[in-house]
Amino acid sequence: MPAARPRGRRRKRRIGAHLVARAPAAPRRARARVHGRGVNAPPRGRLVAFEGLDGSGKSTQVAALVRALAAAGEDVVATREPTDGPGGARIREMARSGRLLPAEEELRWFVEDRRAHVRERIAPALAAGRLVLTDRYFLSTVAYQGARGLDWRAILAASEAEFPIPDLVLLLEIDATRALERVRARGAGLEGVFEREERLRRVAAIFRAVDRPWIERIPAEGSPDAVHGAVVASVRARLGIALADA
Ligand code: TYD
Repeated sequence: MPAARPRGRRRKRRIGAHLVARAPAAPRRARARVHGRGVNAPPRGRLVAFEGLDGSGKSTQVAALVRALAAAGEDVVATREPTDGPGGARIREMARSGRLLPAEEELRWFVEDRRAHVRERIAPALAAGRLVLTDRYFLSTVAYQGARGLDWRAILAASEAEFPIPDLVLLLEIDATRALERVRARGAGLEGVFEREERLRRVAAIFRAVDRPWIERIPAEGSPDAVHGAVVASVRARLGIALADA
């Protein structure tokens, strides 16, 4: 008979395990290295993420903030999810093919891509005291895979337990219909539009429901300059970085 394990730990690991299966080897040591402030030895850089619906203008805002941070002398690492590594390539390929994976498997693909991203890029940059700016991070999984019917609160809890908590998430808020109009104007295909709109509405509802102190909501229906102005104001106030006026 196997030896009994302490109940508390077993239960804690099981919550995440069914939603976000951990890599089998050395998760604890990896976590100790990348996770948690206060426990980690300084210096620790800062982690900023942009989140929002497709069509929220995220890419434009990421590029504008990277320029503003660099002009202010910050040592910025700009990155994105899905990543440019093999995990991200696999996800993009799947999206291009139009094939829909079962929700649990889709979740696993995004989490595995993030695990590699944190290990190879985010954690080393933070440990070197740099400012990491990522276009999407774990709130995308919470909202998008949550919108496929998975328990978004459990995804959030598992993500916070495994990955570095961001210092700031700039959540670009836009109505789902408006976001879809922008996506269509870029020339994306029309097929499955109704289904997509319904799904984007569910994603938007989860983004609205998530409540964390590190989230800053930015109204994103205005001009790119106006949105950038709000982003700059937030980064100044939250991170104390002296950015030039937008
Ligand atoms: P997107 O930021 O649009 O990347 P790109 O501009 O390179 O195509 O992200 C691609 C899609 O992936 C987008 O619809 C959101 C989705 N996504 C998830 O469903 N879960 C996740 O965890 C992440 C990071 C993205």
